[in-house]
Parts: sequence; structure tokens; C-alpha cells
Amino acid sequence: MSENVEAVRADVVARYDELAQAAQAGRRLIDCGPQGYADGRFGASCYDDTTGLPEGAVRASMGCGDPVAVAGLRPGETVLDLGSGGGVDVLLSARRVGPTGTVYGLDASPKMIELAEANAAEAGADDVEFLHGCIEHIPLSDAGVDVVISNCVINLSADKPRVLSEAFRVLKPGGRLGVCDLIAEDGLDPAQRAEAEHLVGCPIGTLTEAEYRALLARAGFTTYTITRTHAATGGLHSAIIQAARPDAPPGILIRPMRETDAEQVLAVYQAGLDGGNASFETTAPTWEAFDAAKLPLHRHVAVDAVSGQVVGWVAVSAVSSRCVYAGVVEHSVYVHPDHGRRGVGLALLNALIQSTETEGIWTIQAGIFPENTASLRLHEKAGFRVVGTRHRIGCHHGRWRDVVFVERRSTVTGL
Ligand SMILES: C[S@@+](CC[C@H](N)C(=O)[O-])C[C@H]1O[C@@H](n2cnc3c(N)ncnc32)[C@H](O)[C@@H]1O
Repeated sequence: MSENVEAVRADVVARYDELAQAAQAGRRLIDCGPQGYADGRFGASCYDDTTGLPEGAVRASMGCGDPVAVAGLRPGETVLDLGSGGGVDVLLSARRVGPTGTVYGLDASPKMIELAEANAAEAGADDVEFLHGCIEHIPLSDAGVDVVISNCVINLSADKPRVLSEAFRVLKPGGRLGVCDLIAEDGLDPAQRAEAEHLVGCPIGTLTEAEYRALLARAGFTTYTITRTHAATGGLHSAIIQAARPDAPPGILIRPMRETDAEQVLAVYQAGLDGGNASFETTAPTWEAFDAAKLPLHRHVAVDAVSGQVVGWVAVSAVSSRCVYAGVVEHSVYVHPDHGRRGVGLALLNALIQSTETEGIWTIQAGIFPENTASLRLHEKAGFRVVGTRHRIGCHHGRWRDVVFVERRSTVTGL
């Protein structure tokens, strides 16, 4: 971790330790201009209903929205609040997940943890746990959380890519992210942006909507929306950021493909080619050739949840440099023969459909050998249609072969 990230966090912790002590002394907390709290842009007035919460938790509320209202929490779910402060969103979440659920609050300020624990004790909330730690290194194991929430905290981190990757890591397949945060308008010059950020107490720097989307995609989220709720101060807005981790069959996780996966990805590729019905190619490309051809945001791997071994992958290439085809890609999906019939291929295709549609890609296409009936069935299940058969289109191991051309036209983008 860079020294800068640690130095920024140390400053933030010192500031919020002081605020927590002020809250313990009975003061209402304000971590930016008081006007923002008076007119309802920050703090407890962002919530529709705080009835029944300890007064100390409401007084310590320093968020910029109500993430619990949009998180769609269900009884029994496990929730993690990044930067839980005085615990207001943890206590609200605990009400929604009920006695069969669990809510964790994570905060780097030891004094905030003390404050939140006191508030939880007063509320009689037994199913909540406050963890001391930082959101750049979440102290929870992989894939154990149903929903990650956060309220006006991610803007305070000097390593936002890491925070979003960590949130993705701890989410279960199909798990959701529901965050309120500040975002910057496009087109602010650096001085305007810095002044606005200073006014609302986030001198580390906000993200624009486009920057947030890019980081969510890089972290591996395949669906994401950003909805502005209200103006925070000149050029900055409160926004709700919602995203989801791709679903996967039991024992499998889908995550972004990394350079360190190269060897395993190419081994799965070669195993598919060796079966004789995957492609005209006979030898998997080098990683350099693969990397150069595949669009970076739409490469997903399926890994064994315990061993981390890559069991399948999906990736796309652009079909043309002509702008009319900017939303058309050709994909490849490979599952290691030892892991067939587990739903891995469908999960990878669904992840690809989500990530491409979220980024405005409207058609995914591919050619499949007619003998590969399993792949044709899989693509039909994922919503692909057969366009037609190209006869004796290429020679493979000395045999002229047909190729069935399939495509999936999105009904949600490129309309
Ligand atoms: C603006 S307050 C919001 C608190 C709470 N979410 C709320 O809505 O009241 C920011 C909180 O995030 C915590 N925080 C900031 N940066 C953090 C980091 N890198 N890791 C963990 N906690 C952090 C602070 O200690 C503080 O409690």
C-alpha cells in the first residue's frame, strides 16, 4: 500500500476520532459546512424515518443519503457497512435483516467503533458487529456478504479502486452494492473541483460519474447504475451507486480476468481446442496476442471458490473499427472439460451479457461448429439466435467445416 494512502487515512482517522469524542460528549456532528446539515443535504435529515434509533446514533449521522432505503435488504441477509461511523446505517440495516441476519460495520476510527458499539448497545441490537479496519483491506473472507452499503465514505479514500475491488471480493455471487457518495460534475476544472471538495470536507477527491463507472467495471461489477439524488455544493452531487456481482453456480466465483490468470486461461483455451469442436485454431495464442485482441472490460473468469483455479473464461473482441459497429462484439467462451455440466458456461455468458449491455454494447456474435451441440444449446439458453449456417467456410485438420453463426441482440441497449 502506498504511503500516500496510509497518510491520508491517518489524517481521516484523527479527524473522525475527534468527531466521535464530540459525539460521545453529546454534540451533534458536522464534518463539513453547517449549512449542508441545516438544509438536509447531509446528516440525519437524509432519512425518511429514524424513529426508535438511539439519539446518539442520529446525532452522529454524517452521510449524504440513505443507502439502506435502496439496498433492498431481505430478512436473513448479511450486510457490511463501509465506514460505519456512529452506526446509523448498521442499526437501520439490522431492522431490515432481522434476527436471522447479520450486519457488520467497518471503520478505521477506533473512537467511532466505540461510539457505534455504545449506540448498538442502547438500541439492543444483538446481530451487529463493529470491525476496526480499513475499507481498502476489508477484514472479512471472500464471498460471504449479501449486500455492501456505505454512506459518504468512499470519497474519503485515497485508493478508491482498491475499495471497490475489496467490496466485490467480499460479496457473494449475485451480491449487491448500494452506496451513497459524492460525485463531481463533468467539466469542472481542477481548481473548481478542489474548492467544492474542500467545502464538503472531502479534500481527497471525488470521482465523476464516468470515473466511478470505470472503477466499478474494473472491480468486476457487471451491472451498475449511478443516480444523482441532490446537489451537495457547487459542482458536486450526492448519488446512489448500485451494482451487482455476477451470479455463479455453487462452488464457483466469477471475477475479472487478471494478467496473473494468463497461464490458466490459456490452458483452458488449449483444452477446448484439443477437443476439436471449439474453433478453427489448433493452438492457443500467446498471452500477448490474447491480451491485445480482447476488450479489457469484458473478460471474466470462473474460478473454483476454494482453490481459486480457473475453470472457464469469457472474453470479446471488437468486430470492426467502423463506428457503426461500435456496439458489436464477437465472443469466445471456454469451460475446462472437467467442469462441464455445472452451469459455468451459462454463468460466464450471463456475466458477459450484463457487462456488455451496461457499457452500451448491443450485439454479441460468434461462430459455432454445428457438431458442438452443447455450445449451441448453451447459447440458445442465453438468448442467442441462429442467424444461419456458413457452408464449408474453413478448413480444419484437413476437413472443410460449416459454422453456425449466432448472435444476441440486446433489448435494453442500442434501442
Ligand atoms: C462521513 S463519515 C460517514 C459515517 C457514516 N457512514 C454515516 O453515514 O454517518 C466517514 C466515516 O468513514 C470512516 N472512514 C473514512 N475513511 C476510511 C477508511 N479508509 N477505512 C475505514 N473507515 C474510514 C471515518 O472514520 C468515518 O467514521
